[in-house]
Formats: sequence, structure tokens, C-alpha cells
Amino acid sequence: MAVTGLLLVGFLYAHMIGNLKIFFGAETFDHYAHWLRTIGTPLLPEAWYLWIQRAVLTVAVLGHIVAATILARRARQARPVKYAHRPKVQGSYAARTMRWGGVIILLFVIYHILDLTTGTLNPNGVAGEAYANVAADFAPSRWYVTLFYTLSIVAVGFHLRHGLWSAVRTFGQQSPRGELYARATALVLSLVLVVGYLSVPFAVLVGLVD
Ligand code: HEM
Repeated sequence: MAVTGLLLVGFLYAHMIGNLKIFFGAETFDHYAHWLRTIGTPLLPEAWYLWIQRAVLTVAVLGHIVAATILARRARQARPVKYAHRPKVQGSYAARTMRWGGVIILLFVIYHILDLTTGTLNPNGVAGEAYANVAADFAPSRWYVTLFYTLSIVAVGFHLRHGLWSAVRTFGQQSPRGELYARATALVLSLVLVVGYLSVPFAVLVGLVD
């Protein structure tokens, strides 16, 4: 769970930092998207890096889901008899929404690929015009797309907050101070990611990127 999760967090951070290049203008952003497809060419085939990344991410996501299913089954087997009295509040909001949060993120990624990778659902949808595709996507008239992205990215933030904290728990029980650091680190890393991602659609919405 932790190994696949940390791999996905690595991608999320790299992708978020790459997205911030949009603030340097269309030429820089489109050049970056082009570079992703041409790293190492002509020695290596075009888009080799993207295809390796796609394969690694797919395996990581599948591994993550399989590990989550095994863990949930193990937890159920450890307590086959239902609790007679189940207290309403157990754990944080982030902890209680891991399963559905994960499903929302998966649905978002499918939409997102059809939107900004294949361009199928994008109003511009031209390969090589990454900047124009993003600008068209979050135009004020398409506020519902921005809303959907916002909800999905907030779901990513909650998922990550609990996931990162759980990953630290993998190394064992923490001292009260260690526990506090783990919680604070998970919160800060998730917040930075959410703000970084959301800055792009909101910059388009207010006309900073157009
Ligand atoms: C507002 C936030 C986001 C923006 C503006 C954005 C932008 C983009 C763009 C422009 C591409 C196409 C890149 C290219 O073809 O060169 C892309 C691809 C992708 N994004 Fe995002 N993204 C955002 C959030 C996310 C999030 C939260 C996730 C994961 C949960 C994600 C996962 C992906 C994946 C898996 C790809 C496909 C990469 C490939 O072609 O294999 N993105 N994104």
C-alpha cells in the first residue's frame, strides 16, 4: 500500500510542478509538453518516457487497489462478528473516506485523460496545444468543469493526508511528538499539492491565464 502510494505521490508532485509552468506562458508550457514526448530522441523512440510512465502508473494504481482490498478483507476477518454498538465518529474525515475518495479519484483520472491527453472531451482538444487546451477547459462558461476538478483535487488532498500519515505508521508506533510531526507533514504536503493544482483552473477562471 505504502510503496505504490508513495510512487503515486511522486507522480502527483512532479505533475503539479510541471503544471505550474503554465504561468510562464503558452510557449514555455507547450514546449514542456513537447519535451515530455521527445526526451532522448532520435536515439530513443518518441514518447518512450510517457509510455513507461503510463505502464508504471497503471501497475501502481492496480497494486494500490489490490493492497487496499487485501487489507480491508484482513480487517474484516480479524473481527468477523459485527460490533453491537458502533460509535458514529471513528477516525478523521480523511480516514473514513479512503474507499470512496479512491473511487472518485479513479473516475476523475479517466475523465482527465479523455480531456487533456486525448482531447476527446476538451473544447479545443488539439494535440500539441497543451496551453490552449487547459485555457479552453476552465473558461468561465465551463464553471462546472472547474467545480468537478476542484472537488476531485480536494478528494486527492484528503486521500493523501490520510495515506501519507498511514505510510509513516508502516514504520511503527510513533512517540506523541513523532505522531504530531507525521500529522503535520501529511497535512502540509497535501495542502501544498491541492493549492498547486487548483491554482491553474482558478488562474484561468479569473483571466490570469487565457
Ligand atoms: C487542475 C489540475 C490539473 C491540470 C491543469 C492538469 C493538466 C494536465 C495536462 C495538460 C495533461 C496532458 C499532458 C500532456 O499530454 O503532455 C495531463 C495529463 C495527465 N494528468 Fe493531469 N492535470 C491536473 C490534475 C491532475 C491530477 C489531480 C491527476 C491525478 C490524480 C492527474 C493525472 C494525470 C495523468 C495520469 C495524465 C496522463 C499523462 C499521460 O499522458 O500519460 N492530473 N494533465
